[in-house]
Amino acid sequence: VKEGYPSFMDKEIHDQPKAVADTLLGRTSPTGALVLDELRIEESVLRAVDKIIVVACGTAAYSGHVAKYAIEHWCRIPVEVELAHEFRYRDPIVNPRTLVVAISQSGETMDTLMAVRHAREQGAHVLAIVNTHGSTLPREADAVLYTHAGPEVAVASTKAFLAQITACYLLGLYLAQLRGTKFPEELRDALAELQSIPDKVAEVLSREEEVRAEARAMHEATSVLFLGRHVGYPVALEGALKLKEIAYIHAEGFAAGELKHGPIALVEPGQPVFIIVPSPRGRDVLHQKVVSNIQEVRARGARTLVIAEEGDEAVVPYADVIFRVPQTSTLLSPLVAVVPLQIFASELATAKGLDVDQPRNLAKSVTVE
Ligand code: M6R
Repeated sequence: VKEGYPSFMDKEIHDQPKAVADTLLGRTSPTGALVLDELRIEESVLRAVDKIIVVACGTAAYSGHVAKYAIEHWCRIPVEVELAHEFRYRDPIVNPRTLVVAISQSGETMDTLMAVRHAREQGAHVLAIVNTHGSTLPREADAVLYTHAGPEVAVASTKAFLAQITACYLLGLYLAQLRGTKFPEELRDALAELQSIPDKVAEVLSREEEVRAEARAMHEATSVLFLGRHVGYPVALEGALKLKEIAYIHAEGFAAGELKHGPIALVEPGQPVFIIVPSPRGRDVLHQKVVSNIQEVRARGARTLVIAEEGDEAVVPYADVIFRVPQTSTLLSPLVAVVPLQIFASELATAKGLDVDQPRNLAKSVTVE
């Protein structure tokens, strides 16, 4: 049931505070430590892991990109993120000290299942991050960490994405706790901030009409670009994917630093460009770099649509439109920054009269290779 929303996608966008909260639920002890009982991989094995490879497809793979930044920061373990179909058909270097993390909403994506089989044959341990109970992937893996997003019906993934990112953060914090790579206080602070995310997502949703009005005004756009750095990069990729999938608009996500290596040639007067801005309270350089990128595209006539934290005044002179999100540390910011992009795609597709839940040529789960 759509519970009064015009589409399942809209309903699922609004389910997101709960999807994140439910994924966090019951995974901390009264002392504030993380408890992931379901990780049936022995602690000694997890301590010995020297490389993590995330395998997934589409939106699930973008959650893996976010995981890379967080896990490498907290755990100091190298993390590779690879599309499952690419992983499967090369000759990946995998051994018993490799932890393969397979991420999937459906648990039935054939490319991901094949990648997991391939990894296990070579002795890797496999952890699945899955939303659908009773699906195939958990049976093929050594252990499973469920996301608790509830059933996702719309072809375009939204709440599963937020739940996947949340589960990846939990995994990163858990491994850091186990391996002692960060001070317990730092991990506790990160976990506390994670617990505050559902309210922040709700706050973004409370301002959805600003985004929807902008999307309606842009219903004739034929090309939209998305730029981000650091964790903002996978958010840019996801924003572009949503728009391609349901609004059939040519959309590209770029790492903002790549601009001058090619993509800036695409910018002509009037070109809409979304820019995802990291927190100004974090690493100054990162924030400054993104602000310069906004200036660069604006100077070439782009129409800049900026996703920026509340109180970030540095973006104001260069933004045609600002969508504000609550203050959040850069590492956790994808959970709030992606929400306006989901709303934008949904509203633009609706304005074009398209079927938001069942886009052409796509299936909810891709069970063939
Ligand atoms: O069920 P999965 O998470 O394994 O699906 C992976 C992709 O097929 C999926 O995320 C796809 O990209 C979505 N349609 C994105 O909205």
